[in-house]
Amino acid sequence: MKKLSFFYLALFLIGNSVFAQDISLPAPDKKGGKTLMQALNERQSFRSYTDEGLTKQQMSDLLWAAWGINRTDQKKRTAASAMNYQEIDMYVALPTGLYLYIAESHSLKMINNKDLRKTTGTQGYVNNAALNLVFVADMGKAGKREGIKIDDSDLFMSYANAALIAQNVYLYCASAELGCIVRGSIPKEKLALEMGLKSNQYIILAQTVGHPRK
Ligand SMILES: Cc1cc2nc3c(=O)[nH]c(=O)nc-3n(C[C@H](O)[C@H](O)[C@H](O)COP(=O)(O)O)c2cc1C
Repeated sequence: MKKLSFFYLALFLIGNSVFAQDISLPAPDKKGGKTLMQALNERQSFRSYTDEGLTKQQMSDLLWAAWGINRTDQKKRTAASAMNYQEIDMYVALPTGLYLYIAESHSLKMINNKDLRKTTGTQGYVNNAALNLVFVADMGKAGKREGIKIDDSDLFMSYANAALIAQNVYLYCASAELGCIVRGSIPKEKLALEMGLKSNQYIILAQTVGHPRK
C-alpha cells in the first residue's frame, strides 16, 4: 500500500514538474498603449532586432491583443474567425522552448524545450529576435479529421484568419514600441516536423516579434 502511494506521489510530482514548465502570464493591460490612429500611423515591418526578450507583461499584452478572448461569455476573440471555427493555433518560439498559447487560461503550454526560432524562418533576423509566432491551422477544429483530403480552398479562410491575427500583432507592436514582421518565408516541412504537427495541422504564417535595432 505504502509502495503504491509512493508510486502515485512520484507520478504527481513528475506531472507537476512538466506542468511547471508552462508559463503563466499576468493579466493583459487593456487600458495602455497609443491611440488606434497613432498605432496605424506607426505600423511597419522590421528586419533587424536586438537580443533583448519581452517582459512577461509585454508577452501577455501581445498574445491577448493578437488572439485573446475579449468576450468571455461567448469565448470570442480579438480577431474575427470564419464560421467562428477558431482553428488558428498560435505557437510561440522562445529561447526556452516552443509553447502553445491557451486563450482560455491566457497562458503558454510548453510543447518542447527546443529553441526553434531559427527553424521558423529563412532570414537571419529570426534567430535572435525575442520570439517568433507560428500560426497553425488545426483543420480538426474545422471538421477535417486526419486522413480527410484538405485542399487550398479549405485553407483559404485560414490564411485570412491568420492575417487578421497578424495585423493585431502589428498594431500592438506599434503601440508598445516593439517591432515585428509577418512572414511567408518558412521552411514548412522542417518546422512541422520539429513542432510535431499532425497531418491535418497546417503552418499558415509566421511573425517575428522583438526589440527593433534602429
Ligand atoms: C502575407 C505576407 C507575407 C510576408 N512575408 C515576408 C517574408 O517572408 N519576409 C519578409 O522579409 N517580409 C515579408 N512580408 C512583409 C512585407 O514585405 C512588408 O509588409 C512590405 O514590404 C511592406 O512593408 P511594411 O509592412 O513595413 O509596410 C510579408 C507580408 C505579408 C503581408
